[in-house]
Amino acid sequence: MEGDAYLKCIDPQCGLEYPIKSTNVQCDKGHLLDVKYNNKPSEKLKDIFANRGKMGEDIIFNESGVWRFRELLNFCEIDTENVEECSRFLVSLDGAEGRQSKPYHMTKVSSFIEISSDNLWLQPEGYNPSGSFKDNGMASAVTHAKMVGAKKIVCASTGNTSASAGMFAANEGIQCDVYIPAGQIAPGKLSQAYQFGAQIVEVNGNFDDALKQSLDDAKNYDGYTVNSINPFRIEGQKTIPYRALEYLKWEAPDWIVYPGGALGNTSSCGKALMELYEWGWIKKIPRIAVINSEGASTLSDLYNGEFQGEELRWNQGKPNIDLITEYYNYLDKEGIRPKTKATAIQIGRPANILKGLRALDFTKGVVTTVSDSEMLDGMSVVGLNGFDCEMASGASVVGIKKLLEEEIIKKDDVVVGILTGRQKDAMLPVDYHNNPKNRFAIPPKI
Ligand code: F0G
Repeated sequence: MEGDAYLKCIDPQCGLEYPIKSTNVQCDKGHLLDVKYNNKPSEKLKDIFANRGKMGEDIIFNESGVWRFRELLNFCEIDTENVEECSRFLVSLDGAEGRQSKPYHMTKVSSFIEISSDNLWLQPEGYNPSGSFKDNGMASAVTHAKMVGAKKIVCASTGNTSASAGMFAANEGIQCDVYIPAGQIAPGKLSQAYQFGAQIVEVNGNFDDALKQSLDDAKNYDGYTVNSINPFRIEGQKTIPYRALEYLKWEAPDWIVYPGGALGNTSSCGKALMELYEWGWIKKIPRIAVINSEGASTLSDLYNGEFQGEELRWNQGKPNIDLITEYYNYLDKEGIRPKTKATAIQIGRPANILKGLRALDFTKGVVTTVSDSEMLDGMSVVGLNGFDCEMASGASVVGIKKLLEEEIIKKDDVVVGILTGRQKDAMLPVDYHNNPKNRFAIPPKI
């Protein structure tokens, strides 16, 4: 391929390549794609990144927590120091995406988890302009959409993706259609999509049904898909671990922990770590832990051999696809639908499962599940530290606690948990605190 950046199929046996301006989210044989770069970025960039975004500097791309790292996702192939060129290409909400997110210690969370406060970092991605980690990847996906001249972006969503897509589309003056599982997304997320002027398409079904319909419609009606199967979404989301690592002076932690839904985050963290390690920017590979909800546990079931006894693995690019198909057929036959109050991760068919497996393979990752009531405790104890997060993000907290109790995470390990979004389901904390039986409840006085 000419130029520095191109697209390549993730299946090593297939390996089809496409020019960077291709809008396919899959190769011709139906496999996921990666954005690839020929050039290796110099480690000297670490110093440049550290100096960008200093107070008083008036360059939004240096303030942005995504575009501050633009050399590591330069699929536009621009001169990254040329501000005018950046402005013509890069999509940014005035530098706000990723700007406020970095890891924090939270003492009440660490004492709940029973880990030393020094060893636990939590990174609230809810402090993005649309209130979730999605803005990291949406800035880059909409950049690509603009680069190829797309007039309309399209997504399916459990709520946060649609809020983020709607926000960037409104800011860029392009159309946005969002497919949502009717009645199954948090009111605060739905209202954002309306507020930003997105065209809502209500789908009678769950997220998996909405994704299928949105992909079909995007193909038939000239829409540009911005779900995380879009490889350019993954590029922007690499900056989540970049910011954590930069804050830790590029000393890799032992663990990075995410809630798992469609597995875009898992995939992007894996890709970021693979690249950084290959370039020699990190010497140690953190392990990724993915936390599923008990009610939507596809990855955990397959990875941990809870379906037909086989532990699904990347297997050097030859994962047992039949096992995944059989699992989905089994869910359909038994009428099992993903069910959790953490609607953000109520997903039965994680579209990025293969990239997720690759990430788990590279990082010797683990997958586990937590219950709804555990996630609510996790969400609530974050609140007691003065930070806001939603129920799905609570999975990171209680997932770490569970893995520590199981001695998979060790007492002196350094752990970074990602809090993926802020609270958009206003009644959840109200209901939680009104029930005195809940672990962290502070019921109202009457
Ligand atoms: N946490 C939050 C707050 C989310 O909104 C999502 C996904 C996840 C975790 C799971 O992340 O898909 O990368 O594994 N929300 C999507 C949406 C599906 O439509 O907003 P993942």
